[in-house]
Amino acid sequence: KEIVVSGIRSTGYLHLGNYFGAIRNYIRMQEAFNCYFFVADWHSLTTHPDPKDLRGNVYRVLAENIASGLDPEKVALYVQSDIPEIAELYLLLNMLAYKGELEKVPTFKDKVRMQPENVNAGLLTYPVLMSADILVHRAVKVPVGKDQEQHLEMARNYAQRFNARYGDLFPEPVAFNFGDNLVKIPSLDGKGKMSKSENEMATLYLADSDDRIREKLKKAKTDSGPAEDGAPMPETIENLFLLMQQVSAPDVIKHYQDTYQDRTIRYGDMKKQLGEDMVNFIAPIREKALALQQDQAYLNRIMKVGAEKARESAAQTLQQARKLIGINYY
Ligand code: TYM
Repeated sequence: KEIVVSGIRSTGYLHLGNYFGAIRNYIRMQEAFNCYFFVADWHSLTTHPDPKDLRGNVYRVLAENIASGLDPEKVALYVQSDIPEIAELYLLLNMLAYKGELEKVPTFKDKVRMQPENVNAGLLTYPVLMSADILVHRAVKVPVGKDQEQHLEMARNYAQRFNARYGDLFPEPVAFNFGDNLVKIPSLDGKGKMSKSENEMATLYLADSDDRIREKLKKAKTDSGPAEDGAPMPETIENLFLLMQQVSAPDVIKHYQDTYQDRTIRYGDMKKQLGEDMVNFIAPIREKALALQQDQAYLNRIMKVGAEKARESAAQTLQQARKLIGINYY
């Protein structure tokens, strides 16, 4: 079985971008692949979260993954900080990572703009830690959204550099999505991708109440009316169709596509329909995740079993890495 790794940061509530970019792929991969999925709690420390919030976020991310259909019996589901081998590999890979290339990473440059008061070394070496997460299991496929593409390229670079210097150990991992392209779920205000730090009204969370979901979709940005003949579909409308394709029935989608074509479409109706379909999609996940979060003992057991599976695989990689580097003394 091919090895698969992916992680989600514990920085807040999971949203539809996380679901359709990542989690949906996890669920579809769990049968046929050897999967390692984890909560990236170390990665979330770059913004210095309050310890109480961080704990809650870790449990919620675990619960929301399981509620979405991830089966902890089929995959290793764990928390990053339970695997010290990741930190060790991160240290080793840091010796092959160059300051200049790290400073050029777009996500780093964004952070420098967003939090100029806290440009720490963890932020700079974020892609190195992410590479360690992946390479520690010698994964070949990494299910992620479009925003992580560049990070995967860096993971391939570090794998190559290590192999060239010390000998073959790491395969080169690729970003993966069922379907051809990596997914980018847009935000509801027409400004870029849905994200945890964005405007809360423009983001649909897996924990949103039914009314909140309806309200957010009602207020989703649309242009005033159907476009002129031959004009390209406005981005905000394209975004609504994209969301509809994820959660609505084929005949519903077709109805709105047809009415768009003959310019009788009413965006208010479309958003109302999308609201109902979204409620039907999100509500069961939300309810299941809430129930799971009440049972911390269960989640603790899952984390522990997951960590054991992950450490077994990670330890083997580190043993070989140390040997190749020449730091296996006994
Ligand atoms: P994070 O926590 O920001 O997001 C988790 C996953 O959700 C995807 N995603 C999206 N996909 C489509 N459209 C969107 N609007 C959208 N927003 C988020 C992300 O692509 C990601 O797959 N660095 C990673 C976490 C990480 C990781 C790893 C991932 C750490 N180590 C190793 C894979 C392998 C991150 O910040 O994702």
